[in-house]
Amino acid sequence: MRDQFLDSQVATNLIALGDPVLYEVHEMSRPEVAGELVQGISIVHPGRVGAEYFMTKGHFHTVLATGELYMCIQGQGMMVMETPDGDWAVEALRPGRVLYVPPGWAHRSVNTGASLDLVTVFAYPGNAGHDYGTIDRQGFRKIVVDRGGAPEVVDNPRWSAPKPGG
Ligand code: F6R
Ligand code: ZN
Repeated sequence: MRDQFLDSQVATNLIALGDPVLYEVHEMSRPEVAGELVQGISIVHPGRVGAEYFMTKGHFHTVLATGELYMCIQGQGMMVMETPDGDWAVEALRPGRVLYVPPGWAHRSVNTGASLDLVTVFAYPGNAGHDYGTIDRQGFRKIVVDRGGAPEVVDNPRWSAPKPGG
């Protein structure tokens, strides 16, 4: 995760100071085949690396044309999404909100709350797979930072735009 954060020096210091757990995922694993639904909960703890809130690593699904359903049951946050062409969207997460991540969109959840865990329930097809490498290389186009006590969505200066044709 260190290199996903804008301020990787602060991230390095945080790791040296005890390497806090940023998030947890608990899921009912199911056979990795079409027709199955993997379901679980994702818990992003509150905290920041510099100005940037704790967040998940984020991924595309290996079967790109796979949607995923999320429902927020606790906390405040944002779902940062992006297509392989670099289109982006950021949606608020708050208790009771159901969020559909459409096929083809990478997704990352960000906890913008001061003290509560951000808890979401998710479900996705068993054959989806996870592609972490693409986000690892290019990052997300948008990041969420604290500005004077409120979250703000800003350009990620470290984002590498996807190359045309992949
Ligand atoms: C599964 C999914 C969630 C995430 C979880 C952690 O497809 O989107 O269960 O896996 O929120 O995020 P990542 O997997 O990006 O570390
Ligand atoms: Zn997913």
